[in-house]
Parts: sequence; C-alpha cells; structure tokens
Amino acid sequence: MSDGTVAENATDADSPFAPTIEPWWQRDDLGYREGRLHLGTADLDAVARRVGTPAYVIRAPRVAENLRRLQAALDGEGLDHRIYFAIKANRTPQLLSYLAAQGLCGADICSPDELLHALACGFREEDISFTGTSLGAADIEVLSRFEKVRINFDSLSALRRYGRLCPGREVGLRINPDRGIGYTGNDMLQYSGIEATKFGIYLDRLPEAIEIAREHRLKITRIHFHAGCGYLDRELEQLAEVLASSHSFIDQLPDLSEVNIGGGLGVPHRADDRPLDLGRWAKTIADAFRGSGLTLAVEPGDYLAKDAGVLLASVTYSERRKDVEFLGLDAGFNLAMEPAFYGLPCEPVPTVPRSGPTGRYTVVGNVNEALDKWAVDHPMPVPRDGDVIALINAGGYAASMRSDHCLRGSVREVLLLD
Ligand SMILES: Cc1ncc(COP(=O)(O)O)c(C=O)c1O
Repeated sequence: MSDGTVAENATDADSPFAPTIEPWWQRDDLGYREGRLHLGTADLDAVARRVGTPAYVIRAPRVAENLRRLQAALDGEGLDHRIYFAIKANRTPQLLSYLAAQGLCGADICSPDELLHALACGFREEDISFTGTSLGAADIEVLSRFEKVRINFDSLSALRRYGRLCPGREVGLRINPDRGIGYTGNDMLQYSGIEATKFGIYLDRLPEAIEIAREHRLKITRIHFHAGCGYLDRELEQLAEVLASSHSFIDQLPDLSEVNIGGGLGVPHRADDRPLDLGRWAKTIADAFRGSGLTLAVEPGDYLAKDAGVLLASVTYSERRKDVEFLGLDAGFNLAMEPAFYGLPCEPVPTVPRSGPTGRYTVVGNVNEALDKWAVDHPMPVPRDGDVIALINAGGYAASMRSDHCLRGSVREVLLLD
C-alpha cells in the first residue's frame, strides 16, 4: 500500500484473486482453489476465522505421504530399513497417535519425557529409538526401566553409568563422524565437522567406549550419527563423506547389526530450492552400506512434518517507517523460531490474496525483539487489517519449540485428517 496504512475501506469485491504465477511452494494438497488457500480439503482462511489466530494447522495425511515416499525410496534400493519420526520436530499428541496407529514408523526421542510422551501416544517400546545428550544420572535411571527401547549413548560417561546400572544389555553408540552437513552449508545447522561439538564419541575415543562396554558386558549392536539438518541435493556429496567416515567405526565393532544415519533431510524453503531427490539420496546410502548386512535406520523430523503444517496469523497493521513498509502479524517468532535462529524462512502467504496493487513488506510479529521478523522486502498483494496470512513450512520445529516470551505463546492447534 502506497501510503502505508491498511486499506480498511476496500470492498470484498476486491477478492478473490488468482495469482498469475504459480507459487513455488504450491503442490497437490497445498495451493489456491478459487482464490482461497487450501491445505488438503481445508480452506485455511475459514479455519482461521473459526478457531482464531494464531493457529498451527497440520495435515496428518501429508506426514504419512512423506513417510511413504521415503520408504519407497529405501525399498527401491533394496535397503533393509527402519524409520523413526524425530518427535522433537512435532510432538502434537494427536499427530503422534495417528502415526503410531498407522504403524508406518517408530519414534526417535531425546529425553525421558519424550519417551513417556511417545509411549502415551501409542508407540511401542520396541519402536522407540533414544538418542539424547548431556545425560545425567536421573535420565539414565529412567532409561534403565525400558529395556526394549533402543538407546544410543553419545558420551563415555553415559555409557559407563548405564553399564553399571544395566550390565549385559545391548546398546548403541552415537559417534561423531567429524564431518558435517546442513542447509546451504549453514554452520549452525551442522552437528559435527566444523570444530569439536558436543554430539557423539569421536574416533580417537572409540577404544575407551569398547573397553567400557566390555567391562559391563554391554553389546554394541548399533552406531548412530546425525551430522546436521536441512540438507538437499546440493549437499548429497557431503552426505556421502559423512557415511564413508562411519566405516572407521563400523570396522571396529563386530557385533553391529544397525547403522542409524540420523535425520537432517531438508525441504525447500525458498523459490530456488528443489525438493530432495530421494532416489539419489537412497542410492548414496546404498552405495555406502551395500553388502554390509546392516539394517539402516533413519530418523527424520523436518522431512516428514515441516511442509505438512502452517501457522495462521492475522494482519494487525501496516505502517511505513523510513522507507520500509512494515506489516504486523499477531504471531511472533516465538511460535516458529527457525526463521530467526537458523535462517530457514516460513514464507508469509495470504490465505485469500487480494486483487489490485502489490506491496513489498517487512513482515513482523508481536514480540518485543528486533529479530522478530518473518520476511524482509517480501512482495504481497496489499492486505487489509484482519486478513489471514499463512506462514508455510511451520509443521516442524514450530509448535515443539514454541516459547511464552512476552506471554505471546497462546496459540490454537488444528489437526487435519483429510
Ligand atoms: C539425534 C537427532 N536425530 C534426528 C533429528 C531430526 O533432525 P531433522 O528434523 O533435521 O530430520 C535431530 C535433530 O536435531 C537429532 O538431533
């Protein structure tokens, strides 16, 4: 809007508007129908008007579709595999129960409370994989009660504590492959490879881990590594390097039956991102482990959940400051922290785009922090006060990382089943 005010006097005749260029994020179950944004069969503007904003909306069947696509790719390479959904990405109980009931995947968890939560949502003990960090004695005590949970220890001290409490059990080791991977090389998304990180046991200390296991008659049957988050095709060569480096560990562990390559598979966040080529991804893995006899485990979070969800917010105001047009929403970065923390945007998209002029906006939230920005210089049809905006890619690490900062954490949640 040229004068910086929200156009309160425009008429409904201005809507609906059919975008002439197909948005990059549009797909079969997310896009405009007759000028209104739909996720599955749900009209998102109508959802917002009924439940209020801000609101997380997640479409469970999309998560299942993402899972099936992953399974098909691994099957295509003849890989014996297990998939665990990293519930740290989205722990909405109804979604987890839906997934548990479908039996399509297990759950990857990282804390005792996540363990109890996964059980409460219907995952069986034997379908749960635990990989946590900085574990204290109290954590180990809780874990010791669940013999069937597949636990991967990421430090010598945790392994020792567990060995003392539960001698003779099977365990996994989280190793540090000393190579990292992440969305467009973003260092903050890499869990290994830049400098010493807190995740996993490095190769130089593997002999000590083996000795601790021997002392407590622990059998090391799994190795695990998670080298970073958000990788796409351009990072697949890095993935090959990460996988190759795991062989120095594998060669020293004769009882291994499973290698868990963690999560980290990314989804497009920007117009020039392409979806991960799962065929290439699965082949990269098969090339690394073909003939090894090891079961492959993978524990994606983002890949399964992120593009299945949106965060709905309402426009609160529009106002020019210096030469910047600000567009305010009733949802702040505390409801989806990845854009501010990691530069992984949740693109603001009008649920009912208006015809007429387009403006360029710095889209901001309602939290008193300068980093509370959803987008900068972002082109959008000129909106009005109360219009509903969908922040896409909010199905992963949004609700699960939500904070109550400024007491702006109150938010509705809607699970779509079709
Ligand atoms: C050990 C472990 N596994 C799996 C994941 C899931 O990662 P993503 O959501 O990027 O797939 C994470 C994320 O931090 C992790 O730390």
